[in-house]
Amino acid sequence: MPSPSSNTGEHSHRFGGVTDEKRIAVVTGASAGIGEAIARRLAERGWWCVLVARREDRLRTLADEIGGEVELCDVADREAVDALAGRILARHPAVHLLVNNAGIPARGNFLKIDLDRVRRVIEVNYLGGVWCTRALMPGLEAAAKEGGAHVVNLVSVAGTAAFAPAGAYAASKHAQLAFSRSLAAALRGSGIRVHTVLPGFVETEGFPQKGVLSSPLLGRFVIQPPRVAKAVVDAVEKGKTEVTVPWFPYRLISIAQAVMPRVVGRFSGMSDYRPGSIPMSYEPDPEDSARSLSRPTHSAKSGSTSE
Ligand SMILES: NC(=O)c1ccc[n+]([C@@H]2O[C@H](COP(=O)([O-])OP(=O)(O)OC[C@H]3O[C@@H](n4cnc5c(N)ncnc54)[C@H](OP(=O)(O)O)[C@@H]3O)[C@@H](O)[C@H]2O)c1
Repeated sequence: MPSPSSNTGEHSHRFGGVTDEKRIAVVTGASAGIGEAIARRLAERGWWCVLVARREDRLRTLADEIGGEVELCDVADREAVDALAGRILARHPAVHLLVNNAGIPARGNFLKIDLDRVRRVIEVNYLGGVWCTRALMPGLEAAAKEGGAHVVNLVSVAGTAAFAPAGAYAASKHAQLAFSRSLAAALRGSGIRVHTVLPGFVETEGFPQKGVLSSPLLGRFVIQPPRVAKAVVDAVEKGKTEVTVPWFPYRLISIAQAVMPRVVGRFSGMSDYRPGSIPMSYEPDPEDSARSLSRPTHSAKSGSTSE
């Protein structure tokens, strides 16, 4: 457990028991699932996390447990992201790690899915990462001068292979993958390394998998968030550029999509989510809409911020 002062900004970090300069990680989508698991693992490894999402109660509970700061933001809202970056950079001029993890599903094929959802999934999954990266670039550059900075983009195997029952989601992840690879190339030699992590099916609150996939074959390859978190931290620590987790069978699916698109297309159309497990005419995720409508543009006021 962190000390009571651990979320006030008066902190240092330990690597292998030795107190070191503090290393700042900004993790988006830290209130649940994979992002929460990443924040936990980073904290274990001595990082100080700025936890970003829209659900304050969740973030605050996590910050109380692992240390760190709470920031409320809808990453799809560019102005809100600029304001978020302003607050973070005022406290931490150097940001050593940005994890673009915030994301939403978009289940239902392109013929059935609500068109607002098609737009929203692009705004959150793809553009959210672009806005965060651009807005925090001064902090990443400052950290690069101190010895190195990292950006991790949580993409998906759906960024390399199109799964028809979640077509709009796959499209958002294809865009995000292109962003991640282009960014890596653009930042070559800058001291800022970009890591792309491509998980397969992961059981989380936002993406329930077990029991909703009608294919028993796919159901066998569902993993849990800590496994992805380990892959993320390993990618940063070991300098891996692109990681598929788990490698089997998902890397093979990505390769098959590239070299045998017709075969994969046939397979992709064969599987689906169980009837009734997804809304077919989205009032796109009422909870997601409600959280976004409140559009918080300020850091959480009490307790766990470094204010
Ligand atoms: N689960 C899978 O099978 C799987 C597989 C491959 C890749 N991924 C990717 O992994 C990432 C995390 O997914 P997950 O499975 O952990 O989902 P999750 O459990 O639903 O968590 C999603 C996180 O993103 C946040 N978020 C959603 N919309 C946001 C917005 N507009 N602004 C700020 N934060 C937002 C949520 O927090 P608030 O609601 O509090 O804002 C939550 O913390 C996503 O990018 C997803 O595409 C997931």
